Amino acid sequence: MIGIKLLGAGMYLPPKIVDNEDFTKIVDTSDEWITKRTGIKRRHLSEGEYTWSMGLKAAKNAIENAKINPLDIDMIIATTVSADFAFPSVSNIIQGKLEAKNAFGIDISCACAGFVYGLDMASRYIATNDDVKTVLIVSPENVTKTVDYSDRSTCVLFGDGAGAVVVTAGGEPLYSYLGTDGTGAELLYAHLYPASNGFTDSEKAKENQKAFPNETGRYMYMDGPEVYKFAIKAMPEAMEKACKKAGIKPSDLDLIIPHQANIRIIDTAIKNLGVDKEKVYVNIKETGNISAACIPVCLSQLIEQGKLKPGQKVGMVGFGAGLIYGAAVLTV
Ligand code: COA
Repeated sequence: MIGIKLLGAGMYLPPKIVDNEDFTKIVDTSDEWITKRTGIKRRHLSEGEYTWSMGLKAAKNAIENAKINPLDIDMIIATTVSADFAFPSVSNIIQGKLEAKNAFGIDISCACAGFVYGLDMASRYIATNDDVKTVLIVSPENVTKTVDYSDRSTCVLFGDGAGAVVVTAGGEPLYSYLGTDGTGAELLYAHLYPASNGFTDSEKAKENQKAFPNETGRYMYMDGPEVYKFAIKAMPEAMEKACKKAGIKPSDLDLIIPHQANIRIIDTAIKNLGVDKEKVYVNIKETGNISAACIPVCLSQLIEQGKLKPGQKVGMVGFGAGLIYGAAVLTV
């Protein structure tokens, strides 16, 4: 099987930083509660910037890091749950702005597991499509636009930003495991559109939307404790299954990059996996949960810090709304 090689990674975090103390001015919370219950201290928030614009900055950074030309890119996969428009897609806008004339673009919506799904998709296109050798995966998220800043149980968790990577044919195959438990779809969601058009009676619209009530308006609804329970089971399960396909044990991994949603979820999942904590990369303190952008931002930081060494086996694992989960083992 044709493998994939990581050529480079990039990131963009918007300059506005909101710390835990700032939240005490808008909701009934404390730095102590947020730190202890989530591990988050600060997060970057976009100030009206378009999602595609953050993605473009991360993409340019990744292309520079990969030392390629935008014309070398055959495919752009954008993974986001916070696209600016119903159409056109984020990948199409970025393709145009990059002048990546040889690339076609696809957006995928796989919530916080989006990057792992994007990587899996890239490896399969590279393996089976002669036209695709080099892929840009870009994960820009403006998830705070869906956050209700009067709801203390969700607003403290999220930040904005973008991560991107360039992969190309070569090296070891990517081993991945992807999973969905759609019975949990009602545990975490945000409506895209208003409940009714100009001809619809609002009571009728409410009745039609019983399954996913729109009481939060355009804002996110989340059952935090239930998502937590799902995450601590799904993350080790996905990582174990991806490692099994790679013919290794989780403890053989050189590095693990988990989705950065809550430090307690990461700690519990890693303990259940039986992996040395030292091998786990965590940046949640500074970024909070930036959905699909978490893992590529971590990759970019690891490259910048000189911590990614050729031949290392890196495990990446994500979970999120859907409910969705997935893990991949990449040899860098
Ligand atoms: N500050 C202070 N108190 C808060 C708070 C905050 N920011 N947020 C919630 N609380 C309160 C609750 O109101 C509740 O109070 P009560 O006991 O008086 O009702 C108490 O803390 C415990 O709430 P609970 O929801 O049980 O807390 P928790 O320990 O489960 O932590 C989350 C809440 C959201 C941090 C946690 O459930 C979580 O991280 N879930 C997963 C979410 C996630 O990862 N989502 C993204 C998926 S990609």
